Amino acid sequence: MSTIPRPAPVQGDMQWFVESRFGMFIHWGLYALPARHEWIKHTEEIPDDAYAPYFTFFEPDLFDPKAWARMAREAAMKYVVITTKHHEGFCLFDSHYTDYKATNTPCGKDLIKEAVDAFRAEGLRVGFYYSLIDWHHPDFPIDALHPMRKHPDARKLNQSRDMARYRDYLFNQVRELLTNYGRIDIMWFDFSYPDAKLNDLGGKGKDDWHSEALLKLVRELQPHVIVDNRLDLPPEMADIHTPEQFQPREWVTVDGKPVYWETCQTFSGSWGYHRDESTWKSPEQLIQMLITSVSCGGNLLMNVGPTARGLFDPRAREALAVYRDWMALHGRSIYGCTQSEFAAPEYGRLTQNGKRLYAHLFAWPFKHLHLDGLAGKVEYAQLLNDASELPMREDADPARATLTLELPVRKPEVVVPVVELFLK
Ligand code: GLC
Repeated sequence: MSTIPRPAPVQGDMQWFVESRFGMFIHWGLYALPARHEWIKHTEEIPDDAYAPYFTFFEPDLFDPKAWARMAREAAMKYVVITTKHHEGFCLFDSHYTDYKATNTPCGKDLIKEAVDAFRAEGLRVGFYYSLIDWHHPDFPIDALHPMRKHPDARKLNQSRDMARYRDYLFNQVRELLTNYGRIDIMWFDFSYPDAKLNDLGGKGKDDWHSEALLKLVRELQPHVIVDNRLDLPPEMADIHTPEQFQPREWVTVDGKPVYWETCQTFSGSWGYHRDESTWKSPEQLIQMLITSVSCGGNLLMNVGPTARGLFDPRAREALAVYRDWMALHGRSIYGCTQSEFAAPEYGRLTQNGKRLYAHLFAWPFKHLHLDGLAGKVEYAQLLNDASELPMREDADPARATLTLELPVRKPEVVVPVVELFLK
């Protein structure tokens, strides 16, 4: 037995967040048209005029936010974080401070307004992703990540770019987002790179964004809001820490101290819609990522990149259905659960919610499940998918205190079977 880590208190309202455990990330923007990663303006070093057609032809005629919200709710996700502006600079919301926004495209709508209304109608909490980086704004100085970073005149071009003016824009937009759309539960800033270097170009961090003042503004406007850790501020100023693109295997710590955390992940290797990408994760991987995150005290924010027609593509819908089907039977082992005080069984993970312990079995053993240290501690055990009893017996060897459960020979017809144990 071990003690369950406890993060130090933070300012954001964490109660609903740790109960929820599972959310949907949505990355949508003009990059859905080229359909080959949301960073293409950077990777292919595309200048504004060559990127312009994506604005001219942005016409998501099949955009149906109610369907998005329904799919998120059915997939058992409890909150949605949606990109209001990604690095490309295009605003999905009707900002007063730019023309580079959805209302000025053939789409003609404030997509954020419609999405937020639909999410709330399905009982989902709402978070905003906002890119600190802006590869469209004429005052955003060219830096080591900018699409124009290799332009021979980058230095010269920067003379007319004024970070102070861009900062005003940034603050004004954040004020709009946290004023015009009701209660926002998460403010997800992305990202800082103070140490980036390319020739004589550097990166950007807290001194460029004026992160401290920005965070102050956010907390003033919505005191309960949860803020992520990508503003380049001391870690204790963030509410949540956000590892991505690898699976944490234990409770995330910063400077040796446990923190509230959420890992964001993709169905395949891109956040924005990517037509030809084929590294889509298997059902086992999808479910195991959720379980593993919760078993280490974290949340999972799983991303969908809608197409430029406004749809979740069939591969994304299939992946969401995997969560829907599994969570319909196993939500109890996820919501409100956290790392267990007991050691995980072989080939599996444990989550715990008070007196209920959940053993998630990533491999199905033959006939018996042995749980060391649990003899004498469990009152009743069952399979969670059908609440069928699992007879128990206790090991003669008191040192190991093994509890042995009798399993059916055939694995139940679910992606990851779960054993529910009621502690005495
Ligand atoms: C990275 C990428 C970005 C994505 C984000 C999600 O920071 O810049 O494309 O939005 O991860 O966490």
